[in-house]
Amino acid sequence: MQIILCDTAAEVGVRAADIIEARVRQGPAVLGLATGGSPESTYQELIRRHREQGLSFADVTAFTLDEYAGLAADHEQSYCSTIRRELVDHVDLPLDQLHTPRGDAADLVAEADRFDASIAAAGGVDVQILGIGANGHIGFNEPTSSLSSRTRVKTLAGKTRADNAGYFAEGQVPRLCLTQGLGNIGEARRAVLVALGKNKAAAVRSMVEGPVSAWCPASVLQLHRRAVVVLDPGAASELALLDYYREAQDLNDQLA
Ligand code: F6R
Repeated sequence: MQIILCDTAAEVGVRAADIIEARVRQGPAVLGLATGGSPESTYQELIRRHREQGLSFADVTAFTLDEYAGLAADHEQSYCSTIRRELVDHVDLPLDQLHTPRGDAADLVAEADRFDASIAAAGGVDVQILGIGANGHIGFNEPTSSLSSRTRVKTLAGKTRADNAGYFAEGQVPRLCLTQGLGNIGEARRAVLVALGKNKAAAVRSMVEGPVSAWCPASVLQLHRRAVVVLDPGAASELALLDYYREAQDLNDQLA
C-alpha cells in the first residue's frame, strides 16, 4: 500500500488526479467512481484539466460504486445524480458510458447481478477511486462485509445513515443500498483511496495499520497489489508510522 501525505484537500485532489490522468491518457479506460465529499477535490481537478489542458474522457467508461435502494436515477440525492453533478456533466464523458446501479429496480437482487456482469463485460476497472466511511466502509460495504463480496443489496449501518442524514429530509435516509462488493474493488487494477479530515483518522489507521478484517472493510486494500492512499493531515493524524511514509514518499518523488 502506497501512502501519499498531502498538506491540503486540494493537493489530495491533484495527486489522485495525476494517477487517473496518467491512465486516461493511455487510451480507452474504465474508471470506478466513488461519490461523496472525499473525491470532490479530485473531480474538481479533473474538470480543471479537462477545461484547461484538454484532458478528454470521451474514451472512458465509468462505473459508480453504489446507490441508495428506492431512489430513481434522477432523484436529487441518488448517487447517479451526484456523480453527474460532481464530475460527469462537466467533462466529455458520454452519458451512455456512465453505468450506475438502478436503485429503483423492481428486482434489486437481479439488478445487482446485472451490474456486476456489466463491469466484467467492460473488462474490469482500471482505476477505482474510493472514499472511506468513518466506520471503515468502502463503497457501502459496512463492517462485517465479506472480503470477497460481489455487487449486492446491503443494509446501511446506523453510523452511515447518521453521517448522510444531512442530505435527506428527517426520517428519509434509505435503509438499503446496492453496492459493489469488496471482491469487486479488489479486482480493480489500481485502487486510489482519498481521505480528508480528522473524523476519518481512526478508520484510516485501521485500514493501513490494523489487521485485515471485515471489522474494517477498507483493510482489504492491504491485499491489493496496487493500492494508493492519499491523505490530508487530519486523515493521516493517527498513523503510527508517519515518519516512515514521509521518507518513502520523498524517495518516490525523487525517483519519479
Ligand atoms: C460513496 C462511497 C462511500 C463514501 C464514504 C465516504 O460512493 O463509496 O464509501 O466514499 O461513505 O463518504 P464521504 O466522502 O462523503 O465522507
